[in-house]
Amino acid sequence: MRRHSIAVLPGDGIGKEVTPAAMRVLQAAARRYGFALDETTYMWNCDYYVEHGRMMPEDGLEQLRRHDAIFLGAIGNPAKVPDHIALRESLLLWRQAFDLYINLRPVKVLPGIPGPLRERPGLKVDMVFVRENSEGEYAGIGGRLRRGTPDEVAIQTTVFTRKGVERVMRYAFETARKRPAKKLACATKSNAIQYTMVFWDEVCRELAKEYPDVQVSFYHIDALAARMVTHPETLDVVVTSNLFGDILTDLGGALQGSLGIPASGNIDPERRNPSLFEPVHGSAPDIAGKGIANPMAAVWAGAMMLEFLGEEEAAHGVMAALEAVAAEGRVRTPDLGGTATTDEVAAAIAEKLAAGS
Ligand code: NAD
Ligand code: IPM
Ligand code: MN
Repeated sequence: MRRHSIAVLPGDGIGKEVTPAAMRVLQAAARRYGFALDETTYMWNCDYYVEHGRMMPEDGLEQLRRHDAIFLGAIGNPAKVPDHIALRESLLLWRQAFDLYINLRPVKVLPGIPGPLRERPGLKVDMVFVRENSEGEYAGIGGRLRRGTPDEVAIQTTVFTRKGVERVMRYAFETARKRPAKKLACATKSNAIQYTMVFWDEVCRELAKEYPDVQVSFYHIDALAARMVTHPETLDVVVTSNLFGDILTDLGGALQGSLGIPASGNIDPERRNPSLFEPVHGSAPDIAGKGIANPMAAVWAGAMMLEFLGEEEAAHGVMAALEAVAAEGRVRTPDLGGTATTDEVAAAIAEKLAAGS
């Protein structure tokens, strides 16, 4: 039997609720499609930090490295650990240490889900964001001087390398080439940010010569944000820097009807290290502990993970079941106007999956 070893990291807040719920769906898929998912759960989160003074054990990276993939809920409990410490020592560290340089984030409006675009029936929204995930605004270079004085200085430097920009652009062009519309939108701000963003555009233009079949457009990030709302059907693949992609994909989640829906793959396309799959959303402290978080984003992330592990049929099965539950609208969490719990939504998806619809 095919076996895949998964590091399960529920993390904090609703991560602890949606992750086990989604894993139940993935285990149902494993049973149905005839493979095994061997789960090892790591409770590395803000509670772990409070106890141990760090977000994971000293050999945490080595432990994670042994797995085929990492399945994360969300990290963050600002009441216990400052976010910039918790996230730098966990998620951002994993992305950078494992060089998971692609952050793949589909933005697809599922039929039947209420959302801001519902007044425009027939509108097809199917975008894929390819977010640079290893450097850029998140490089972590900077410092603070003369803290607490009137002359205080804080500097955070954006780092774009040729290697970093080329590889994310190439991945985006390849992704666009495989899709029917074959369009690539390059998210920029080269009218104001004259070094990094002009370089970003240049690399995109250079690579475009190798992909004459892909239609490339450049949009400034401000106009692109508006375009996502006013003309989302004109967008196909969008390539972004680290921070721009972060912001636009939460907007994408809103367009999808809820942040409880969009999913994300932090991918090393060269497969040197385990890739990490997670919802786009965070730990949602405002609703944590109530059992009402929408597990769809986590389930979708799980489908992306199965696809990456080579279980394409199972991945499609999970997505078909998720889409069927979404379309029926009977079992929905409160973010989508329903009254169902996290576990009820996951159970409905698992049931559909087992029934083979
Ligand atoms: P958030 O995504 O956690 O929440 C934003 C809003 O969306 C909240 O009102 C929340 O209730 C709602 N929401 C999010 N997911 C939902 C779901 N599945 N079902 C229903 N509603 C949902 O963003 P935030 O409030 O900015 O951040 C909270 C914490 O999470 C912070 O500590 C932040 O740093 C962290 N965070 C972690 C990740 C991650 O680990 N990948 C991502 C984003 C934010
Ligand atoms: C995301 C998150 C992270 C990011 C945070 C938690 C560091 O918002 O994955 O979208 O900004 O990348
Ligand atoms: Mn984000």
